[in-house]
Amino acid sequence: MTRIFSGVKPTGHLTLGNYLGAVRQWVAADQEPDEALFCVVNLHALTVEHDPARVRRLSRQAATLLLAAGLDPQRCTLFVQSHVDEHTRLSYLLECTATDGELRRMIQYREKAAKSLGAGEGVRLSLLTYPVLMAADILAYGTQEVPVGEDQRQHVELTRDLAVRFNQRYGHTFTVPKATHPAVAARVMDLQDPGSKMGKSHESGAGIVYLLDEPGVVRKKVMRAVTDGGDGVVHDRAARPGVANLLDILAACTGTAPEVLAEGYSGYGALKRDVADAVVELLRPVRERHTELAGDPGAVEAVLREGAERARGLARPVVDRAYEAIGMLAP
Ligand code: TYM
Repeated sequence: MTRIFSGVKPTGHLTLGNYLGAVRQWVAADQEPDEALFCVVNLHALTVEHDPARVRRLSRQAATLLLAAGLDPQRCTLFVQSHVDEHTRLSYLLECTATDGELRRMIQYREKAAKSLGAGEGVRLSLLTYPVLMAADILAYGTQEVPVGEDQRQHVELTRDLAVRFNQRYGHTFTVPKATHPAVAARVMDLQDPGSKMGKSHESGAGIVYLLDEPGVVRKKVMRAVTDGGDGVVHDRAARPGVANLLDILAACTGTAPEVLAEGYSGYGALKRDVADAVVELLRPVRERHTELAGDPGAVEAVLREGAERARGLARPVVDRAYEAIGMLAP
């Protein structure tokens, strides 16, 4: 058995990018509850300007959607990060392991900090230390694999560096994890701006397919996707990013390689129609199940409570060991 851990942060409605890049891999991992842990990482939603009521609402919605997408509480542990204190406890020890320089190099920090400054807002210190908390999320569970989209690669690399450094300084404490990515659609791009990732916290929703979008809305977004100049349908991410993105999405839905799919189309219209149909069908069961589950919030809360209990039991001994190894007196 391989211990896996991954998470999603409730900063916006979940997107097709989250689903294809991450959540689908989580659902496919046939596991035992102690071996597969999935977390709504709500503390990470506090690193940029936030509205408390919205974070609460989105956290509940994310948990409900993960269950709707097929996470089975009999086969995995689903919980909310703030319910398990071990994450922040461990984060501090890892802050004492990481350096200011390596955190300032993180691409997501640089992009988001620039955005906050551009909007005349301060940059929260937690935005800088965020990857350390993420490392704590992962290392607290002796995680071996972290199924994530491509954009999280650098954060998982940092996690590995911190684990190795801690182990070298204080004796073997942490398992060194590795990131895993889906074969296609590890980086789903914005339909209106295929040069940037489809991200749930972007302001404009026109290029973002949300998991809870109505079929008509999904169709409209896909049909209006920006394609590239040039003739014919070819899969070339550098020269034709818009078309390549549509082919990648279709490939993820159908299981056929994007290069092979490209050969079947002579124009963008037919490709877009097929992508729209495939995405609508992919999301239909998730939306339907979400409606059912949202009608019984008590059941979702019970899953999260049990999940937190189990997660705490797994994380506590690892974090206690780390406290002792780094030089803290045992309580
Ligand atoms: P977040 O909430 O931005 O995204 C959740 C997961 O979805 C993937 N993803 C994508 N994959 C493909 N194409 C896209 N356009 C796309 N957008 C998002 C992300 O790669 C991620 O796997 N820092 C993390 C949350 C986190 C975490 C963790 C993850 C906190 N602690 C520990 C793993 C382990 C984040 O912001 O993900």
